[in-house]
Amino acid sequence: MTERAALVTGGASGIGRATVALLRERGWSVVVADLNRATGTAAAEELGASFSVVDVSSEDDVAGAVARCVDEFGRIDAVVNNAGVGGAFGSLTEIDVDEWDWTFAVLVRSVFLGIKHGARAMRAAGNGGAIVNTASVAAKSGGAGPQAYSAAKAAVLNLTRSAAEELAADRIRVNAVCPGLIVTPLAVDGAAAQEKAAAVMARRQPWPDMGRPEDVAEAIGFLVSDGARFVTGEEITVDGGLTAAGPRMHEAYGGRPGERGLTGVNRGSTGVPPTIRRV
Ligand SMILES: NC(=O)c1ccc[n+]([C@@H]2O[C@H](COP(=O)([O-])OP(=O)(O)OC[C@H]3O[C@@H](n4cnc5c(N)ncnc54)[C@H](O)[C@@H]3O)[C@@H](O)[C@H]2O)c1
Repeated sequence: MTERAALVTGGASGIGRATVALLRERGWSVVVADLNRATGTAAAEELGASFSVVDVSSEDDVAGAVARCVDEFGRIDAVVNNAGVGGAFGSLTEIDVDEWDWTFAVLVRSVFLGIKHGARAMRAAGNGGAIVNTASVAAKSGGAGPQAYSAAKAAVLNLTRSAAEELAADRIRVNAVCPGLIVTPLAVDGAAAQEKAAAVMARRQPWPDMGRPEDVAEAIGFLVSDGARFVTGEEITVDGGLTAAGPRMHEAYGGRPGERGLTGVNRGSTGVPPTIRRV
């Protein structure tokens, strides 16, 4: 019997892999569940985790991965529903129904299945547990991902809230993380794409550095920890201030006053002139 055991889907790459590394560092036993046998085997070997070939859209596969965690480690304390793909893209007038449905199966059905089978096992053991779902800032607006992806991630956020309410009595916490742009093969594949993304994010994202998988793993690490005992049904946005900054419309008003060397009070249409000081 180990101290703590987790199932991490999509643990072969990017955010999932960084989460596996963090949990292993903290002494957790981990089952990596991923569709990619090559990267999954390599990640598991390197990080000292177990590996299961799993398609997260398949109920048998997800149920099997949960059972594997319980069989191998004697327990399951956390499920990180993190596997994902970009999914259907293109104009809404052209997207095939099959591609739309496949996107929802990989991004939403998967989370339902991880909750269903993870919570069943946790409930049976009676020790509570933590479930973390990887949503996205794309869940909160239309401008951060393809349409099906954004709609699916919005569904993941709301499913997180419903599950948190239902499972609280069993001391099973359910939370989400909403990453912004994180440098992984899914978001920016290759040096050229990374350079292009960095140039765009320098204008949109307040924090000067690009997001790393480890930044999201730290938030997941907190949410599965005992320190988050009273946190459930919540989301932690890990996006370098991207969402907080909103549409960044300062340019429409002539630029940020501070950047123009001005400070003072704008009194609107009151007829009272503004006070403007040069600084
Ligand atoms: N990278 C970003 O900028 C970003 C931003 C917001 C949200 N996310 C979300 O973070 C999660 C992880 O993405 P990432 O950026 O680390 O991508 P990634 O491509 O590096 O890793 C995703 C992993 O999921 C696996 N996977 C895909 N489909 C699967 C399936 N059906 N069954 C099992 N495994 C499957 C892949 O094989 C891969 O190992 C995803 O849910 C993604 O939507 C990423």
